[in-house]
Amino acid sequence: MVFTEFLDYVGARFGDDMVDDMIDAANVPSGGAYTAVGTYNHAEMVALCEALAERTNSSVRDIVCDFGDRLSDTFARDFPDFYRRANNLFDFLSSIDDHIHVEVRKLYPDAELPHFVVERRTATQLVFLYRSPRRMGHLSEGLIIGSARQYDVTVRVQSDELPVEQGMAVRFTIDLI
Ligand code: HEM
Repeated sequence: MVFTEFLDYVGARFGDDMVDDMIDAANVPSGGAYTAVGTYNHAEMVALCEALAERTNSSVRDIVCDFGDRLSDTFARDFPDFYRRANNLFDFLSSIDDHIHVEVRKLYPDAELPHFVVERRTATQLVFLYRSPRRMGHLSEGLIIGSARQYDVTVRVQSDELPVEQGMAVRFTIDLI
């Protein structure tokens, strides 16, 4: 689903020719033939993003973050109950590990999901730890920013990558502004 959404995003933002160029340049094993229910190696996503960054004079970080921001609109449209059920952004983010991704796994048993831990929470700040065998922390950052939009609030997000031997760990400090 993330892959098909990513190709839609690239098409909408940069045009369909860019989608083809990016897939050709990235030379991914699947050839870019993704379905919403399939599971693909996350290394393909990295290769696609690197190819796109090179072609658009942008960085992988900026692309993935912007994509995450837009992906939150798709999630809000397709899974409105997850947003409705939470009263505010911090409740929503705090419910990812125990509720949202648990339900996602029921729908997509092969889903590869990260872990989120709330380290600290006040009325205006959430400190939130991302941990995954995959390196998709930037996607989280975009999803956090986009999710804030779903609750009509604006946030400042500081990301601090923590040293880990495998995968990625990022501490997000999210301030309501
Ligand atoms: C309605 C809300 C949400 C839904 C339906 C949802 C669903 C999903 C799905 C289907 C995947 C793909 C798994 C795969 O390709 O195997 C995924 C992965 C992921 N989700 Fe969520 N998600 C939601 C909210 C969030 C939010 C708010 C964040 C960030 C704060 C987040 C962070 C991630 C990340 C980073 C991954 C990539 C896998 C990894 O890093 O290990 N998700 N999610």
